[in-house]
Amino acid sequence: MLKKIEELERQAKETIKAATDPKALDDLKIRYLGKRGEITAILRSMGQQPEDMKPLIGQKANELKDQLEGLIEQKRQELEELHRAQKWEEEKLDVTLPGTPFLVGRKHPITTVMEELKDIFIGLGFQVAEGPEVEWDYYSFEALNIPVEHPARDMQDSFYITSKILLRPHTSPVQVRVMEEKQPELPVRIIAPGKVFRRDDDATHSPMFHQIEGLAVDRGITFAHLKGTLQVFAREMFGEQQNIRLRPSYFPFTEPSAEVDISCVMCEGEGCRTCEHTGWLEILGAGMVHPNVLKISGYDPAEVTGFAFGMGIERIAMLKYGIDDIRLFYVNDHRMLSQF
Ligand code: DAH
Repeated sequence: MLKKIEELERQAKETIKAATDPKALDDLKIRYLGKRGEITAILRSMGQQPEDMKPLIGQKANELKDQLEGLIEQKRQELEELHRAQKWEEEKLDVTLPGTPFLVGRKHPITTVMEELKDIFIGLGFQVAEGPEVEWDYYSFEALNIPVEHPARDMQDSFYITSKILLRPHTSPVQVRVMEEKQPELPVRIIAPGKVFRRDDDATHSPMFHQIEGLAVDRGITFAHLKGTLQVFAREMFGEQQNIRLRPSYFPFTEPSAEVDISCVMCEGEGCRTCEHTGWLEILGAGMVHPNVLKISGYDPAEVTGFAFGMGIERIAMLKYGIDDIRLFYVNDHRMLSQF
């Protein structure tokens, strides 16, 4: 029996030494020290051993048991250490390697200009209103004093979905929606930024673009309020030196109507190619809200007046940043977008 224990010791030490992973160690532990393990078997067989050998066999077997337990644990730690060292080697950082460059996103110039516009008008006491991009013919035209068959509809060549529903060709419908909801409350002072759609496509027109609408309704609103508001806007947007000019115009939903110019941002009014040597750039349409529009929206034109304006945001951004093709806004080329 003592021989057998010796043989077991030699064999066990060898196999433990050769183990290469924790799983193999678990198996060895079961094989020698488990419930049916080889050493356990010897300890269990003590009853059958010769009386005089019992103490020695018992002592040797127990010693071996303790020794193997220790060896397995030691080997386990060695393997763990090795594993950790390997992993460390694999993951080691080479701080001298060049970094991986990545592109930082930034705001689209249309978003930036939109936010600037909102800031300016919120500062003047306007609130931001919204309307749907898919709009009724009623709000897009009829309620804005443009009846069916009226030639003014041609000013906005539109995308129809049904004969009564279309992609809104301007943000002006929001005027009516807001007044309908607010009446008879006063004052109404809103801006409505958003997407609009027209059948137009060239270097300065896109089938989808952005507008911002403005509307102020109250007792005693005059043309002077409109002009003052737009003058403040032009100075805040394009600089303190800015002047504006109003020219008589026609919109069915305003009376009187005006087209509004700013002094040319390229030549500061001297005259250049951008302004076609006039010194002025047209940037928006405006006017006093037509009595019919007030009436249809629930206000009494004998009691209140209002002014309104609408401008293209792309146009403002093109002037502000010197961009000469509107399509550059929509091609998602970071060489262009990262400049702003
Ligand atoms: N809705 C007009 C357009 O899209 C712009 C406009 C002109 C809006 C005059 C107004 C306004 O509110 O008073 O071309």
